[in-house]
Amino acid sequence: MVHPQAYQWPEKDFSRVPYSVFVDPEIFTIEQERIFHGPVWSYACLEAEIANPGDFLTTYIGDTPVVVVRADDRSLHAFVNRCAHRGTLLVRSTHGNARDFTCVYHHWCYDQRGKLIGIPFLRGLKGKGGMPPEFKLGDHSLRTLRTAAYRGVVFVTFRDDTESLHDYLDSPMRRYLDDIFAKPIEIIGYVRQRIPCNWKLYYENLLDDYHGVLLHKFLVTFGLSRATQKGGSEMDRRARHRIVYVIPSEEDTVGTQQGYAETTLLDEGLYLRDPSINEYREEMNDRRAVLLCAFFPNLLVQRLSNTLATRQIRPRSAKEYELYWTFFGYADDDPAMQLLRKKQINLVGPGGLVSMEDGEAGRLLQLGINGDFADAHSILAMGGRGEIPLVGHDLLTESSVRGFWRYWCDLTGIGPQTGISAPGGVHRAAAAE
Ligand code: FES
Ligand SMILES: [Fe+2]
Repeated sequence: MVHPQAYQWPEKDFSRVPYSVFVDPEIFTIEQERIFHGPVWSYACLEAEIANPGDFLTTYIGDTPVVVVRADDRSLHAFVNRCAHRGTLLVRSTHGNARDFTCVYHHWCYDQRGKLIGIPFLRGLKGKGGMPPEFKLGDHSLRTLRTAAYRGVVFVTFRDDTESLHDYLDSPMRRYLDDIFAKPIEIIGYVRQRIPCNWKLYYENLLDDYHGVLLHKFLVTFGLSRATQKGGSEMDRRARHRIVYVIPSEEDTVGTQQGYAETTLLDEGLYLRDPSINEYREEMNDRRAVLLCAFFPNLLVQRLSNTLATRQIRPRSAKEYELYWTFFGYADDDPAMQLLRKKQINLVGPGGLVSMEDGEAGRLLQLGINGDFADAHSILAMGGRGEIPLVGHDLLTESSVRGFWRYWCDLTGIGPQTGISAPGGVHRAAAAE
């Protein structure tokens, strides 16, 4: 196999991506070090999931197991879920409540902050065995991560020098989180699915509006998202996070008939026996029935009709990832809204009327590119090439996917380097122009 640094990126504007980056296990290893353990904030959970002192949950950041805990003083902590003795997975349940954590293997015990507080037979038994005198409990804490929350959304980073979460999210993303998490939330439930494709093929999917108005027959047929509706997008200054929205009520209906005339997507003979799944109840006065906020490297916050959810990406290997869906509503939802949210969960998840196709598209992509890919690459040119626009006014674009690749390249050191994505890089690049 060619060294990753030598992969061919035929265009410097990220409009061509070598397929090898979706296949090569060496790339997966580099990503763990430079992205998931690098200078980024990864999504870990919602504060509402660990609302009480002692609540914890287990998750993965990249392929590293992590525990997130709310300590008795209500502060948030995160540590690698790996016993400091011999490396056993320390916490085995998905969530719970605990004052401390004891490893199943030799019973080393850690407090809620990951500090080692006790080991059996530390001084041996009847003068035999025991740890050497210089062994100090304080030297063997768990590997901790920096933890920060914005509007109840918890992020973690492995690096001390990662910029603040506030700066990392940047203003457009903070604004949308301010809106979505303006009120206390309540968790409705979870879904998990495992998909046989590289995690970046899914992240591309989240940024690719072009497919949304074509792949998803349900969206097009029942009018949740069509290319002929008003929509737009916005990215942070470094084009690494992105929001897209659709306003179905602003639609050019004649244009819809014409635009989709050549396709089999808009089938007006199809109908739903129970159309209530498609009822959209306005709740934020923005008429945005589709609102998807993607946060590099592992989070999507979605509102699809009245379905609110986070989707967390857990890469498992170069050719497989897992998706954790966490559905939520607001604490003050009335019973009708509670019912509507639960009904609309059927739109998404592994068997969802909309999301099922995204999983299948990922599987087909991986099957298509697994073979001979030496100098083959994908094309990202819809919506134009060259400069990556931070604000978009239509849904027929792949520009934000190019933004993802620009940041990925800057972080991994592979492919065209712009330096724009580094902290302060936007300003450095502007000064250099
Ligand atoms: S591996 Fe955890 S106590 Fe030995
Ligand atoms: Fe999709």
